[in-house]
Amino acid sequence: MKLRRNRRTALRLAVLLSFVATGAAQAQEGQVNVICSVQAEWCNMIQTVFTKSTGIKVNIVQKGSGEALAQLIAERANPKTDVWFGGTGDPHLQAAEQGLTLEYKSATLPQLYPWAQQQAQQSGWRTVGVYSGPLGFGYNTELIAKKKLPVPRSWADLLKPEYKGEIQVANPASSGTAYTMIATLVQLMGEDKAFDYLKGLHKNIGQYTRSGTGPIKAVARGETTVSISFVHDAPAEKLQGFPVDTVTPAEGTGAEIGSMSIIKGSRNLAAAKKFYEWALTPQAQQFGAAAKQFQLPSNKATPVDPRVPDFKKIKLIDYDYQKYGASAERRRLIARWEKDVNSLPR
Ligand code: F6P
Repeated sequence: MKLRRNRRTALRLAVLLSFVATGAAQAQEGQVNVICSVQAEWCNMIQTVFTKSTGIKVNIVQKGSGEALAQLIAERANPKTDVWFGGTGDPHLQAAEQGLTLEYKSATLPQLYPWAQQQAQQSGWRTVGVYSGPLGFGYNTELIAKKKLPVPRSWADLLKPEYKGEIQVANPASSGTAYTMIATLVQLMGEDKAFDYLKGLHKNIGQYTRSGTGPIKAVARGETTVSISFVHDAPAEKLQGFPVDTVTPAEGTGAEIGSMSIIKGSRNLAAAKKFYEWALTPQAQQFGAAAKQFQLPSNKATPVDPRVPDFKKIKLIDYDYQKYGASAERRRLIARWEKDVNSLPR
């Protein structure tokens, strides 16, 4: 089964690389500086393929969503970044509101799903959706059985005392995944109840990680039993043979709109626009699954890998991206979490 899947992946890569070879003819000069907020395998693949097919050098810095925004704020007077690729949509909206990103309306927009177009429209065309994925829980199937713990199926379950020290989630200051969790809970419960919930959850957290994907990797390696993670980040761990499974909470959950923005003041604007346009094509979007990243791609014509979570089977809230991507709201909620939750003993 695994062998067949590997063969299928190899075949898909061969097809994609032949696409690269065809494009390689039109060699060009220049470079583009990209902050990449997806996992390294995908960042590396788009770096190699885009350079091979256009001749434009791609300099990649990999950063979590919150850290990427902090870098762009710090660079505001003297931007060193041209494109911010990937990462949760809320901080992209915040960057748009703060005038850190450039208004740019791609001709490809009508080819994208409505959620990706809406992200662009809500930002005043300063960002765009490149993928989407739901938030859920990951767990180590062997560890959970060994510890005789039930599989958590709801947000409420995670507060049970038997999970003390068994759960990891990222820190919302650095991670868009963790901010998505806070915004989801606030929308599900109302703000004060959500913060009571987060205080309860804090008692069961073994570690807050810097990166949003840290907890699912820790689950995979048996370093923690449960994680709060994007569901699409689990299959890559499974493919490596780790005993991981996921659930989505019964009460409902939020989804991210992974986004992409061109930086205002970009010094390599022509190359940046070329990269941006390329990243919206179905050909380029296939590199997500080729790099074993299973978000739902935003271009309707991109083939959807069977390992991409099926949104129809998940109870999703109607996430208010505009509200929770607003600068003041995001800053306020993260500051409240630091003060009311993270400062408490565990
Ligand atoms: O690359 C995996 C991923 O889960 C993306 O889908 C998401 O946009 C990003 O990580 C968020 O990372 P972080 O929580 O570290 O900002």
